[in-house]
Amino acid sequence: MKKYEKIRKMMERGCQILGSDYAILGGAMTWISEANLVSTMSNAGMFGVLASGAMDGDLLKNEITLTQSKTKRNFGVNIILMNPKLPDLIDVCGEKKISHVILAGGIPDKDLMDKIHSYGMQVFSFAPSLSIAKRLFRYGIDAIILEGSEAGGHVGPISTTVLLQDIMLNINEYPVFVAGGILRGEIFASMLLLGAVGCQLGTVFACAKESIAHENFKKALLRANAKDAVTPVQLDKKFPVAPVRAIENLGTTEFMAKQKEILRQFENHEVSLEEGRLLLEHFWVGALRRAVQNGDVERGSLMSGQIVGVVKEEKSISEIMSTLLTEAENFLDKNKIC
Ligand SMILES: Cc1cc2nc3c(=O)[nH]c(=O)nc-3n(C[C@H](O)[C@H](O)[C@H](O)COP(=O)(O)O)c2cc1C
Repeated sequence: MKKYEKIRKMMERGCQILGSDYAILGGAMTWISEANLVSTMSNAGMFGVLASGAMDGDLLKNEITLTQSKTKRNFGVNIILMNPKLPDLIDVCGEKKISHVILAGGIPDKDLMDKIHSYGMQVFSFAPSLSIAKRLFRYGIDAIILEGSEAGGHVGPISTTVLLQDIMLNINEYPVFVAGGILRGEIFASMLLLGAVGCQLGTVFACAKESIAHENFKKALLRANAKDAVTPVQLDKKFPVAPVRAIENLGTTEFMAKQKEILRQFENHEVSLEEGRLLLEHFWVGALRRAVQNGDVERGSLMSGQIVGVVKEEKSISEIMSTLLTEAENFLDKNKIC
């Protein structure tokens, strides 16, 4: 009998879409999802995704070239819509014959999707509501990713299970990948049983042996409990705070104090609304890089999902994959499914 026969069968559609052996995406993580990690993921049969973060076209071209030198398998490129170099980044992906572009940080318009398609690339995007998901499919998106609020990094307000019922179960015919809080094979298999074509995991790969994240960063994540991975509290609507899930540290405490200070300054007419918002925005600039590259776990941003509480060991990508697939296969066997 072929290894992972049942779960392989359930992953068929997702694998076809991704051009991979397993319908599992390694979610892009800025400063972490670089050539080495991404190529290792794709070589292991899953689908790696490069994070372009705040890169410009030249930097992205170098990273893609390096990744392509390490793997012949498909991998995607994650592009943040707010990046001022967006058009260059799309051109670079097209010229480098990338198979899939994953757009994040907003809702793409039809022209952008058409441009990506004109290069022969597939385009995925996140969808926060049923109406947006339907619109994206009408515009020609190839797949959507539903990412619940328990995920790491920038998140929406709705949990994975609610998104499944609000969106996925109402758009049966379209391909949906699910992200946020997924680690065990039983949960992965359950997502496929519900109709997902695959899943995207992030936090567990930040802690993988092949992840270039600083030792301090990995240790902080491996030590953390699920309840430690929080989104910041917003003190006043006038000063919006981006919901970014990360482990609480001195930086998050100081951020609360900063909000209070800015609010006080605003009420005393010492700063304008715009100045106050800018000061707040600047607080976290460079914080993920400080944590990931310099190991500053006190004031850097320790982005991670709530699943961090279940990730207890630094494992290799192949170990993570084989554990997940074995758990999924055993779950299907035990429950006499397929
Ligand atoms: C450290 C970190 C950085 C991330 N950076 C990005 C990013 O640059 N772009 C993006 O679309 N998602 C980003 N994410 C989200 C992941 O790609 C993925 O969707 C998420 O981690 C999945 O949820 P999980 O952490 O519960 O597995 C990031 C997540 C983490 C933990």
